[in-house]
Amino acid sequence: MTKVYVTRVLPGYSLKRLKDECKELVVNQAKRSPTATELLNGIKGKDGIISLLTDSITKEVIDASPQLRIIANCATGYDNIDIKYATYKGIMITNTPDVLTCSTAELTWAIILAVARRIPEADRYTRAGKFKGWAPDLLLGTELYNKTLGIIGAGKIGTEVGLKSKGFGMKIVYTDIKKNQILEQTLNAKKLSLTKLVKISDFITIHLPLNSKTYHLLSCKEFNLTKPSAFLINTSRGKVIDESALVEALRLGKIKGAGLDVYENEPKISDVLKKLDNVVLLPHIGSATQSARIKMADLAVENLLAGLKGKIPPNLVNKEVLKNKTPVAEGFSLRKKRCNS
Ligand code: GLV
Repeated sequence: MTKVYVTRVLPGYSLKRLKDECKELVVNQAKRSPTATELLNGIKGKDGIISLLTDSITKEVIDASPQLRIIANCATGYDNIDIKYATYKGIMITNTPDVLTCSTAELTWAIILAVARRIPEADRYTRAGKFKGWAPDLLLGTELYNKTLGIIGAGKIGTEVGLKSKGFGMKIVYTDIKKNQILEQTLNAKKLSLTKLVKISDFITIHLPLNSKTYHLLSCKEFNLTKPSAFLINTSRGKVIDESALVEALRLGKIKGAGLDVYENEPKISDVLKKLDNVVLLPHIGSATQSARIKMADLAVENLLAGLKGKIPPNLVNKEVLKNKTPVAEGFSLRKKRCNS
């Protein structure tokens, strides 16, 4: 029998399922993330935790429960977790990929269209009573047809964003460590270096995980290369962009506009960004459709229960923890933790 902590109320019936299967289930009922102290208290004595991307699962948090076996993050990204330390302690980490691919790709397109056609700005203009009749030069935007869409990170979400470009007749280029057969075969996409992509793209869209290699991947150097007519879209993680370099590039006209769903110091947003009319700002809602969020919660619970029952969770991120584990009929027996704390 197991004890589990969940850092926020999740949508759908996933928590009910969890309740039926656990000896003790503690769910943070507040309509906000737990504070650092609440998180430490919540995890104490638990075998598993369902966390969100807003929860910092640090060494201290991990050490707060010596019996912790699994951290099931309800997100595709898991940069909020000290993965090295968790892995060192033999603790499984899981995420919720695939189920939010479509929602995030759709939001990316909503942002591309919003920045290209100045939709939020036009909405503000109309509501402010400024619309006095059709005018030949009113709120002119950028057409997508025949423009180049540069995809930075052609994983599942990046690929889906590329595929959804079909209806707009855009040229696709991408940068990734791997060749993307789907994009190349379906859309004749070209794989380029980051520098080349940044130079030639009219719309640059980022779909990367945050890690030491992608931190500030786009900074002054890249913004010195962008077309002054280009737009930058980010629905991945804020820290992939050096935000002050972006603000400077926008102010100096090195880039025409940006559409951001994520920020370097989320939820803080630079005041300068908020004042710029050529940026669209959203509150990290890439996966925020009812269906995606329910599926994410279901998947997090499925991962957690599998791990707690000694099976290999379907979305295990740190497969290294399986090394030295002896498979058993039902899954594997958990390795004794290397550290005592
Ligand atoms: C959302 O940003 C996620 O990683 O799921």
